[in-house]
Amino acid sequence: MNTPVLEVWVKSVTYEAERINAYDLRPAAGGELPPFKAGAHIDLHLSNGTTRSYSLINPEGERHRYVIAVSNDAASAGGSRYIHEQVRPGDRLIITPPQNDFVLVEDASHSVLIAGGIGITPIWCMLQRLTDLGRSWELHYSARTRASAALLEPIAALRALGTNSVVLNFDFESGGRPLDLAAIVSNAPHDAHLYCCGPAGMLEAFEQATKSRRRDRVHVEYFSAKEAPAKSGGFTVSLAKSNTKVFVGEGKTILDALIDAGFDPPRSCTEGVCGTCEMRVLEGIPDHRDMVLTDAERASNKSMMICCSGARSETLVLDW
Ligand code: FES
Repeated sequence: MNTPVLEVWVKSVTYEAERINAYDLRPAAGGELPPFKAGAHIDLHLSNGTTRSYSLINPEGERHRYVIAVSNDAASAGGSRYIHEQVRPGDRLIITPPQNDFVLVEDASHSVLIAGGIGITPIWCMLQRLTDLGRSWELHYSARTRASAALLEPIAALRALGTNSVVLNFDFESGGRPLDLAAIVSNAPHDAHLYCCGPAGMLEAFEQATKSRRRDRVHVEYFSAKEAPAKSGGFTVSLAKSNTKVFVGEGKTILDALIDAGFDPPRSCTEGVCGTCEMRVLEGIPDHRDMVLTDAERASNKSMMICCSGARSETLVLDW
């Protein structure tokens, strides 16, 4: 593991909503934890070998703890289910300090925040910060049912503090229907900053609805990549600094092939969303599948995420 890590202990595990628990993590060495800003996430390196990213939900400025909320996803590949089944108060965990790919613009005249399901977690951190700053915001929060919606009580308390608007929608309850993202976006002031975190379908609809908005005012947090990882293989990766060539066979990502060859590349989400595995491309054409690079960065082919992206050329030369 090449990234710095920290040890924390689990102060408490609390029920937050159906299939969602909150975990209060304290520094194992005592003292303070590294600071973070609203929208940040930490990576948990679990003893079953998986690494998963979770947004921090406690207010930025707290240095004595990190709090995360974990949804026990029925389709979990071993991350969230493992945490729900195995992690208990008093346990120790290894984490990577906070990183932030979903940065809050604190001086926006108005912020529109849209959350679906467990996507409320980074949004909740942002709402607390905007409220502390006295900024104008509106929240549109959709979940399957009220019982499955995390953080409803603190959201109601926050709304009661000011004049900001909260629109709740429960898809599976009477009157529930998908949020009308096109209407939400078109009603937003032209200089508002718009944020969305939720399931892939919601994010795609959001991206569609915000196409005509200035890109620097549109902010999206993906939990998983939209595209399947490139695993057709059949190309060679040449590692310039290691002076080594590794063949990537069918059914493998570049990351898989490098690990099989005995390397230990930096990685975290392994799903193309965090950017940890980014490598510079010196030669060759990547087949980009990540959610990290912008369209312009993809087109330049100067770097790639090796956990999910493949090659369109027979050889890729990476600066690693
Ligand atoms: S490990 Fe997260 S993008 Fe590759």
